[in-house]
Amino acid sequence: MSSQDKVKKLIDLRTEAKLGGGVKRIEAQHRKGKFTARERIELLLDEGSFEEFDMFVTHRCTNFGMEKKKFLGDGVVTGHGTIDGRVVYVFSQDFTVFGGSLSETFAQKICKVMDMAMKAGAPLIGINDSGGARIQEGVTSLAGYAEIFERNILASGVIPQISAIFGPCAGGAVYSPALTDFIMMTEQNSYMFVTGPKVVKTVTGENISVEDLGGGKIHASKSGVAHFLVDEEKEGLMLLRKLISFLPQNNLEDPIVTESSDPIDRLDDYLNEIIPENPNQPYDITDIITTIVDYSEFLEIHRNYAKNIVVGFAKFDGQPVGIVANQPNYLAGVLDIEASRKAARFVRFCDSFNIPIITLVDVPGFLPGSKQEYGGIITHGAKLMFAYGEATVPKITVTLRKSYGGAHDVMSCKQLRGDLNYAWPTAEIAVMGASGAVEVLHGRKLAEIEDPEEKAKFIANHEEEYKEKFANPFEAAAYGYIDDIIEPRNTRFRIIRGLQSLATKKLVNPPKKHSNIPL
Ligand code: HXC
Repeated sequence: MSSQDKVKKLIDLRTEAKLGGGVKRIEAQHRKGKFTARERIELLLDEGSFEEFDMFVTHRCTNFGMEKKKFLGDGVVTGHGTIDGRVVYVFSQDFTVFGGSLSETFAQKICKVMDMAMKAGAPLIGINDSGGARIQEGVTSLAGYAEIFERNILASGVIPQISAIFGPCAGGAVYSPALTDFIMMTEQNSYMFVTGPKVVKTVTGENISVEDLGGGKIHASKSGVAHFLVDEEKEGLMLLRKLISFLPQNNLEDPIVTESSDPIDRLDDYLNEIIPENPNQPYDITDIITTIVDYSEFLEIHRNYAKNIVVGFAKFDGQPVGIVANQPNYLAGVLDIEASRKAARFVRFCDSFNIPIITLVDVPGFLPGSKQEYGGIITHGAKLMFAYGEATVPKITVTLRKSYGGAHDVMSCKQLRGDLNYAWPTAEIAVMGASGAVEVLHGRKLAEIEDPEEKAKFIANHEEEYKEKFANPFEAAAYGYIDDIIEPRNTRFRIIRGLQSLATKKLVNPPKKHSNIPL
């Protein structure tokens, strides 16, 4: 064979590999409104930047006549490329080859790309679209999954790991995405469950559809498994690019600070009036977030899950930060089980990857009740406390209004090594709200007063006295628990100054194998 023929053979094989399971299956994929594995990579990465590995890998299975059915690449496309010029490693499961099912060699390809991402210290993005373990292979594919899981675990906190679910992801296969930092799902075509509707019906008798059991909407709102829900794949892939822009390459690097022309000293006058006179009146915390950050750009995570707390990424003068903020517009911003878990995971992510944390506080306390207690609010609340207390990244807290009780301590207070703790003049830092306090302190006296008018007057007087004493930030500032009381319209400037002053912060936790966060 001449050299030219050899080159031609290579080109032909590449063309064959690029067709995955063939034109018909590609068309079927498109009919479902789905892109192919390669199209997804093309959209995700900078144009022309993708370098593929293992295009010529085929499976070695001989069960059920499988030796006669081979496809170049064996159902997963792997390699590296760039996003805005920064290297990322990717794998993209190809549903057109045996339904994207995982064989021994398929797993080896994913493991190779994971190992390379770890060696290079670069983020790993996995696009999932798979019928799970390749049924014809049996136990080798189970072992393959476990090889991937172990790598997910060891890479956790070392390189950012992101999963997009653009098709089925069922059975034990769900645990690889679950071990990664972020999961994205689409509204249609994307589902995750440990056991599908048929097994559910057999075991429990419950009738449930695929969508209601494990569709994107469910996981983005009810279970919290998915961090991002998008209408369609293209939007999702663009969002992944955006997400990467806030993250460092690995745990030893800082996130990239970009040029910003948004003035650092821009005054937002309306913030001076945003807190309603009535303490029970809600407002939307995202209005405050988008006012103070660069160009009003806020990448919210878990937008539809535990809406009483808001978390996400933004920038201040080009410096990426993680924002955690109570949301008075939903359940008055109370801390419950879901909100605590959501924020704790986010705080830990930021701390793992050197992303400073900005906390905006307006919290009436922990949600009371047997449902919360039986569900373990003590343990879950402790998660958030632990995450904040353990975090060594710069931590700036601004208390806007309520900061009551245990929730005050949890929300990045000074004693949990908050670096800068600011408060607006509207802040109320106390053990509890005025009405609750009067009930407890004067319960016996209140029970003795029969006349309703007299009772109301008594309550009002004592509430006033309590508010005078505690419903302000000055008491906390007098102890130095609050570093400064700031004008709301100046918040952006004070945060940026704070971040600048903390850029060289060094704080190290005591040596240990690892902590024992209350899981
Ligand atoms: C081998 C598979 C496969 C699998 C699908 N295919 N799943 N081949 N192993 N796990 C093949 C089909 O035979 C078909 O081949 C092609 O992929 C497309 O599948 P369809 O069924 O035609 O597609 P669709 O109708 O869209 O249904 C998709 C699906 C369904 C819902 C994913 O294929 C399905 O239920 N698959 C089995 C899912 C499953 O039970 N997996 C094991 C889970 S347990 P042809 O040649 O006809 O195109 C597991 C354990 C992991 O994964 C444990 C880790 C610890």
